[in-house]
Amino acid sequence: MSKVTTLGQFIIERQGDFPFAKGELSRLLRDLGIAAKIVNREVNKAGLVDILGEAGTVNVQGEQVKKLDVFANEQFITALSSGGECCAVASEENEDMVPIDTIVSKNAKYVVCIDPLDGSSNIDVNVSIGTIFSIYRRTSLSGSGVLSDFLQKGTEQVASGYITYGSSTMLVYTTGRGVNGFTLDPSIGEFCLSHPNISIPEDGFLYSINEGNYLHFPDGVKQFIKYCQEEDEATRRPFSTRYIGSLVADFHRNLLKGGIFIYPSTARSPKGKLRLIYECNPLGWIVEQAGGKASNGYKRIMEVEPESLHQRTPLFIGSKNLVEKAEAYMTKYSPQPVAS
Ligand code: AHG
Ligand code: MN
Ligand code: MN
Repeated sequence: MSKVTTLGQFIIERQGDFPFAKGELSRLLRDLGIAAKIVNREVNKAGLVDILGEAGTVNVQGEQVKKLDVFANEQFITALSSGGECCAVASEENEDMVPIDTIVSKNAKYVVCIDPLDGSSNIDVNVSIGTIFSIYRRTSLSGSGVLSDFLQKGTEQVASGYITYGSSTMLVYTTGRGVNGFTLDPSIGEFCLSHPNISIPEDGFLYSINEGNYLHFPDGVKQFIKYCQEEDEATRRPFSTRYIGSLVADFHRNLLKGGIFIYPSTARSPKGKLRLIYECNPLGWIVEQAGGKASNGYKRIMEVEPESLHQRTPLFIGSKNLVEKAEAYMTKYSPQPVAS
């Protein structure tokens, strides 16, 4: 019988590499894994119970909230609040950070940023959706967390990951020593190591962008798209387009197969759509740990200084050579204005 490594076993084995680790981060990852299983259960029966459809509210991003978004948000916050290892949570679904002031949590070392349900427009059409998380060591000294604990650059993350609820459910994470992927075996209810040491191909032949916004893209992006569409046998162009509309699912496919995902600035949303803290930094670290790159078109995404919780940024993420190529087009055709 081949040996199966569960997420729980893997986390504990890895903890042994850090002789002074007290297990707090391991427990935090375990709490996220448990919440993910509960959300997965609801995602899977979303067609059966009355959990689909608009919740009737608009989230802080000004978007319609689906019921599953609310459910996932509550599950993750509850798991993190009762786990005792996290002193505050910032969620895409909450305008302000949520301080955790229970006796066990309030002096905890870590804060967690979360996009509890990513790709929410795909919920009611049975298309892959996801969850994205990121963990930072708090910068404040004690008590429940404060805003400044969250306004750290992506380079300060101590763990990040995502869950994709698709044809199977996977949890992929990094703590800075490579990227590992676990597939949920529903028969035993455990995430099992299925994709050890993930690495993204340096080159890719897929590009993922919402081309419906083409007219509003910067010239650098338009020129890069033209490059992707040109005929050239040596570089296997034209590349194929793949766009699901769930960042996690698009990212996951490109991570395994190679490719680039772009959500640029547009004339309508000059800062792009995706959120630096909840979406771009966590996936940025994963892709870097897998050998790829993540950029805002000009610089490494993880070095962008966050100024507010819900800050948006353009994102170029995926295979190293493709991201570098796209950056070169941005610099040439859409140079950044020089700060005066
Ligand atoms: P969320 O559901 O968390 O708000 O995120 C939606 C995001 C992301 O998942 C996806 O890549 C992007 O929106 C798609 O946007 P467009 O529909 O504008 O292409
Ligand atoms: Mn999202
Ligand atoms: Mn979301």
